[in-house]
Amino acid sequence: MQSHEIRSKFLAFFEKRGHKIIPSASLVPENDPSVLFNTAGMQPLVPYLLGQEHPMGKRIADIQKCVRTGDLEDIGDNRHFSFFEMMGNWSLGDYFKEEAISWSYEFLTSKEEGLGLDINRLYLTIFEGDENAPYDEESKKIWMSLGIPEHRIYALPADDNWWSPGDNGPCGPCSEMFYDMEGNVGDLTLEGFIEANKKETVIEIWNDVFMEYEKKDGKVIGKLAQKNVDTGAGLERITAVMQGKKTAYDTDLLSDIIEKIKSESKEYNENYARVITDHLRTALFMVADGVIPSNKDRGYILRRLIRRTVVRSLKLQFPPNLTKDILDIFLEKYKNIYQNIGLENNIDVILSEIEKFKKTVEDGIKEFEKGTDPFLLATTYGFPIELTEELAKEKGIVIDREKFNREMKEHQEKSRTAGAGMFKGGLANTSDITIKLHTAHHLLLKALQEVLGPTVHQKGSNITEERLRIDFSFDRKMTDEEKQKVEDRVNEIINKDYKVVRREMPFSEAEKIGAEMEFGAKYPEVVTVYFVEDENGNVFSKEFCGGPHVEHTAVIGKFKIQKEEASSQGVRRIKAVIE
Ligand code: ALA
Repeated sequence: MQSHEIRSKFLAFFEKRGHKIIPSASLVPENDPSVLFNTAGMQPLVPYLLGQEHPMGKRIADIQKCVRTGDLEDIGDNRHFSFFEMMGNWSLGDYFKEEAISWSYEFLTSKEEGLGLDINRLYLTIFEGDENAPYDEESKKIWMSLGIPEHRIYALPADDNWWSPGDNGPCGPCSEMFYDMEGNVGDLTLEGFIEANKKETVIEIWNDVFMEYEKKDGKVIGKLAQKNVDTGAGLERITAVMQGKKTAYDTDLLSDIIEKIKSESKEYNENYARVITDHLRTALFMVADGVIPSNKDRGYILRRLIRRTVVRSLKLQFPPNLTKDILDIFLEKYKNIYQNIGLENNIDVILSEIEKFKKTVEDGIKEFEKGTDPFLLATTYGFPIELTEELAKEKGIVIDREKFNREMKEHQEKSRTAGAGMFKGGLANTSDITIKLHTAHHLLLKALQEVLGPTVHQKGSNITEERLRIDFSFDRKMTDEEKQKVEDRVNEIINKDYKVVRREMPFSEAEKIGAEMEFGAKYPEVVTVYFVEDENGNVFSKEFCGGPHVEHTAVIGKFKIQKEEASSQGVRRIKAVIE
């Protein structure tokens, strides 16, 4: 079954069951500043899951474009894609578990209206229960009534079977459907099932979420006014299953591109071919939704994706037109399915960014001639380690791969914590209030420097859910007037709604532009700097920091200094709150 047939069967199936089909929303969320891109089909529907009336009614189905760029390093394996299409059906306070599960089952197994998958190759999971919600007996019973044997239904904890888009919003227990990719796996114990999932012999193909709860600041706070259903089936996965392949790269969605690279590039490397295929597709969809390459936010992610394709295509020695040809193929494939893909300008935007970056790569190679630091080349110029190794080999230099791996791991851990909010949707494990205080802390330090002079530097800091605390170098008590000035200045920047932008740069550059850093701290060669700046890029503050931060200062609220006191010789301490 071809991918286009899966798309149309899915929509027809739910249309017949009273669902209105809506077009995919833009990849760029309209009303949600906490995420850069829609990462799930439910995201554009959040207001309706929370109770707002949807103009199309209570039953909706669609195929939503999604982008997930949290784990770029995993791309190229069988199942991670930076872009994917998520098929979903929604009940907005209408039907619940019984219908949702029965229809999922019917669509998966029906030969006429659905995919005709083999019931003997299905495995199910349900929520095992915790302090927020009970064991999901109901879903289990429904699956059993459909003929699934009890031992193929596994109860798992919230980590696996509680779905929420982040720390805030609608959420609930879920029931996931898995399929035996090889057809001979048979019965599995719980441990065996987990293992088979790891080995990809059994893979998740659909998730039914029963959204009747709400989260605030990472905690489930109770039930929503209505019971919703949110389901998500990745087209890439389902297509792989339907075509008997381990990965979507080998299906009609992407295999022509892979084949083209294989036959036309001088060198071939499967991982590079996959990364290029994945990233170019994502880049095209981003540009179609109005993102342009830049150094910030969405534009930065787009730029990174493009850069990663450039270094790999150089490595594979792409002939001059191959990148453009690949983009043309994607455009043809998707222009009748998704809005704006067919716009003429899209491909030019990407190609011109590629041309620009090729120059940077040349600079990177010059940098390499000077120093061969593989970590710097990877994080600043997007050089894959293999490319650096190759270049090094030509010069008879051996790269310390272990050191590189160590540095990358550390770097990823850092950027993952910092980017968790943006990439996974919602700020993982950090409550909103501490994030706001964290940004207020940056504003405060800068305001202190403005009012008290440039000798002020941070000597320590601490943030709790209640307040922020900063220790800074200054040798006398502040006057009431000074305190007022500082407080007013912070509130002024908050009210002007400055942007908070995260940028990665070599340490030397950050030092050159005078980013605030902690004296005596040791920083890696590539650092993250947070800028607070206005629309025109006028910078108020810039600080070395791992984040996370709010994206716009206005959300912080009113800032208030509570106390100013001595901390130690030559060091003052301020405690401040937001109201
Ligand atoms: N929102 C659910 C998911 O993305 C369906 O898995």
